[in-house]
Amino acid sequence: MAKIHTTAKKHFILVGNWKMNPDTLDDAKKLFSALSRKAQKMSKVSVVIAPPYPFIGPLAGKSEVISIAAQDVSNEPRGAFTGGVSARQAKAAGASATIIGHSERRKAGDTDEIIAQKTFEALDAGLRVILCVGEKERDQHAHYLRAIRDQILVVFSKIDKKKASWITIAYEPVWAIGKSYDTALKPSDIHEMSIYIKKVISEVLGQKPGLKFQVLYGGSVNFENAQAILSDGAIDGLLVGRQSLDPDAFGNMIEYANNL
Ligand code: PGA
Repeated sequence: MAKIHTTAKKHFILVGNWKMNPDTLDDAKKLFSALSRKAQKMSKVSVVIAPPYPFIGPLAGKSEVISIAAQDVSNEPRGAFTGGVSARQAKAAGASATIIGHSERRKAGDTDEIIAQKTFEALDAGLRVILCVGEKERDQHAHYLRAIRDQILVVFSKIDKKKASWITIAYEPVWAIGKSYDTALKPSDIHEMSIYIKKVISEVLGQKPGLKFQVLYGGSVNFENAQAILSDGAIDGLLVGRQSLDPDAFGNMIEYANNL
């Protein structure tokens, strides 16, 4: 299983969030093996794929270079929660990480408190966490910065700080998700947000671990804008939705990140 980590040389993390795609296991396997063939040759990138739950088991262990993440986990450890999937079950199925707090889950009812509980459960089960934060809209007075700060701090107040390094923050401005590719945030703005997020984390963990904290960008990334974002965004990687279903586009991003 590939680890999510950084080395002295810039080591990028590329996460593909397949959301509720593709329809069949056959298609999922084809896509996964195309990405795995590409990732095989790229030693300087960690590739993580988040397939729908039913495909976690069949895909886990099929690649030595791609880690599997769940797209979400329950905030409860077990019990009478019809339709729920616990962090332990995701782990038992073969996931080594999980996305938590994606804006599509927040829209479906996840509050900051629930997201904090989910993070606690995931870390407790031994899953790494890709924690999504991001503002719904930007206002002139920069109140959105406060919202992002709150999203982060509520989670960090709930967890054992010793496990904080198992969290990677994915900054995804909600207004830039699933839109046209020119909506993606500009590298200079991503750079600014990445520094802001690291500062917020420094408040809790101290400056050294805070500044080293991994921050990804997500929201309407394609191969074209990925190049500028990876080069100039001062981030540790990308969380990619639609384009992670296109093995050429996502494969090109992997290759580009590997060669930076
Ligand atoms: P998108 O999705 O790349 O299709 O905008 C990103 C996400 O939802 O994580």
